[in-house]
Amino acid sequence: MKRPAKPVEFPDWEKLYNEEEFESMPWYIAGMDPDIEAGLRYIAVTSGDVLDIGTGPGTQAIALAEHGFHVTATDLSASAIAKALKAARKKHLDIDFITDDILRCKLDRQFDIVVDRGCFHVLSPAMRPDYVHTVHGLVRTGGFLFIKCFSKMERTMKDGPYRFSPDELAGIFGKRFIVEYTEETVFHGTLTPLPRALFSVMKKL
Ligand SMILES: C[S@@+](CC[C@H](N)C(=O)[O-])C[C@H]1O[C@@H](n2cnc3c(N)ncnc32)[C@H](O)[C@@H]1O
Repeated sequence: MKRPAKPVEFPDWEKLYNEEEFESMPWYIAGMDPDIEAGLRYIAVTSGDVLDIGTGPGTQAIALAEHGFHVTATDLSASAIAKALKAARKKHLDIDFITDDILRCKLDRQFDIVVDRGCFHVLSPAMRPDYVHTVHGLVRTGGFLFIKCFSKMERTMKDGPYRFSPDELAGIFGKRFIVEYTEETVFHGTLTPLPRALFSVMKKL
């Protein structure tokens, strides 16, 4: 019999972002994540509306805005949103930063690309169906969903986010999206070694 995934503990996100500097966080990367960059090359989309879910430090939102996208970025943590907004303003970038829980999402519009770098993999398994339903509603028909999450291949870290195999991701998202590709990669950030990760590009038909 298949055992249920072990419950995982996560930080109090608001407390974390209120007390810590972005640069100290394991997922912090100064520019665009190379897998997101590769995903954009693959779909050959260079403009349009992008939503960055669980934006945290806002690094991907900022990089996407610098690439010419019109970016909306959300996070559960109001402190993360306030600090990310400040970082974007310093660069004279106009990004819609909104405090929002993806599981009680207030957004009422759709996007050409929805990016999730590290939010989906911190949601409890019971929340996944709601997440997929919400995200499906946020992507325009013909648009794309990028998911970056920990891989089942990550075996050195004791704690941390939920891990997935490419087949599991296909099982979770496959009824709502066409999986264009899922590849094994690393979660770029401040940890050594970098944790093993998956990056998946999916299309809403
Ligand atoms: C691992 S961090 C990744 C941050 C950012 N995407 C990055 O790549 O730097 C996960 C983020 O998801 C956010 N988060 C967790 N649960 C959330 C939820 N239910 N709705 C929105 N954001 C959430 C956290 O506040 C945190 O910023």
